[in-house]
Amino acid sequence: MFKILEKRELAPSIKLFVIEAPLVAKKARPGQFVMLRIKEGGERIPLTIADYNSENGTVTIVFQEVGKTTRELGTLEAGDYIQDFVGPLGVPVEFPNHKKVLGIGGGLGIAPLYPKLKMLHQQGVEVVSIIGARTAELLILEEEIKAVSDRMYICTDDGSKGRHGFVTVVLKELLEQGEKFDEIIIIGPPILMKIGSEITKPYGIPTMVSLNPIMVDGTGMCGGCRVTVDGEIKFACVDGPAFDGHKVDFDELIKRLATYKEEEKISLERFNEVHECKLINKIEGVDKDAVK
Ligand SMILES: Cc1cc2nc3c(=O)[nH]c(=O)nc-3n(C[C@H](O)[C@H](O)[C@H](O)COP(=O)(O)OP(=O)(O)OC[C@H]3O[C@@H](n4cnc5c(N)ncnc54)[C@H](O)[C@@H]3O)c2cc1C
Ligand code: FES
Repeated sequence: MFKILEKRELAPSIKLFVIEAPLVAKKARPGQFVMLRIKEGGERIPLTIADYNSENGTVTIVFQEVGKTTRELGTLEAGDYIQDFVGPLGVPVEFPNHKKVLGIGGGLGIAPLYPKLKMLHQQGVEVVSIIGARTAELLILEEEIKAVSDRMYICTDDGSKGRHGFVTVVLKELLEQGEKFDEIIIIGPPILMKIGSEITKPYGIPTMVSLNPIMVDGTGMCGGCRVTVDGEIKFACVDGPAFDGHKVDFDELIKRLATYKEEEKISLERFNEVHECKLINKIEGVDKDAVK
């Protein structure tokens, strides 16, 4: 069992947990993730290690409540426990000999971007970052990204903070102005990673993306997470999740992510029904545990 030491709400429906997990924290490296299961019988979901402290034995995760499991996770509080917290999984990222890197994070993608930029900053690499969200309210980890960046741009789709428009607008501008980078990291919704990679390709700048296919075991046993990279099948959980954005088949990834849409919807509706019943029972003073 893994204790939640701290809970923070970063934005509506986006939560940060600091989890006590010394063994994971000891081995964690930027680019890796964990598979967690809230309780017996629950599903296993992958979440990126957004930060870790090997001395304190803590691992930070940031998640968005998009469906049943993440919604249920969001109901837990500091002091509660998570049944399984397996990791670190996936291949750590490395940036040998880099001098200047551009990091781009869209929406929730800012969380997995953070540990990579933090490591680069600690290595003395010049870090430029562009972070964006739909609205100012949904922008997360701004202070954390700023602390590890030499220069930071903020974009919002509705113009409520920073530049009005997508992060790719600033990316295009920097490249058109002739700014050079040893590598560009783009993490966010698959469509952002796809368009961003298309923008950087003609400039020949290595572009790293972090893929988020559906995962089951997270250890290379099932192929649920398979993606096509450079015409070859790869398992994102053991070969990634970071890949060369110029070689990823994003259209296939986007299609595969929609595979279980109907089942996910039904599962969330069931979860909401039970929780609404619990709420009514509380109000009426009925034993809430009687509702399963
Ligand atoms: C390597 C990896 C790292 C990830 N890191 C994070 C993270 O740090 N924070 C975070 O909030 N999420 C992260 N995800 C996505 C996260 O695993 C899903 O949001 C979660 O599994 C959804 O479960 P659910 O039961 O709440 O929703 P579901 O009911 O399963 O899904 C609800 C909606 O979310 C979409 N969805 C489901 N699974 C994924 C997925 N794997 N990626 C993208 N969209 C999905 C579905 O299409 C659906 O529309 C990561 C995924 C991978 C593969
Ligand atoms: S999740 Fe099963 S092989 Fe990757």
